[in-house]
Amino acid sequence: MTGDFTFSIIKPNAVRTGKAGPILSMINEGGFEISAMRMVRMTQQQAESFYVVHKGKPFFESLIEFMISGPVIVMLLKRENAVEEFRKLIGATDPSKAEQGTIRKTFAVSVQMNAVHGSDTVENAHREANFFFPEKDRF
Ligand code: CMP
Repeated sequence: MTGDFTFSIIKPNAVRTGKAGPILSMINEGGFEISAMRMVRMTQQQAESFYVVHKGKPFFESLIEFMISGPVIVMLLKRENAVEEFRKLIGATDPSKAEQGTIRKTFAVSVQMNAVHGSDTVENAHREANFFFPEKDRF
């Protein structure tokens, strides 16, 4: 299994407030190529299945409600060592702990509304990529 791509979501609050463009610029400037991209409004079932690892956690229901509250942009991003490099570019899940210059430090408004999702492992990048993009739709 290679680590040359990762999966990301620009979350509903960031799309709604016009931050998708600036976030995409930061992604490109960070050395990532967009290999697939689509705007989608997730169903409750899709969101619950995507975030199944968090099922049972206290924030799960509100996370699902938030993630289906509007369209999101789902993407496959290519770069060497993509999972780890993308996590550096986005910064910590909690924006108050994210480093200056990271996407979350710049655009997140809370832990939940943290602007972007990025896969946390190579295995999850594969699982999450397959969730939205069949191989034939990748460039
Ligand atoms: P994400 O990278 O999309 O992966 C799971 C999401 O759950 C995470 O970003 C946050 O938006 C959310 N999350 C994680 N921990 C908490 C928390 N303690 N409170 C609220 N939301 C959380």
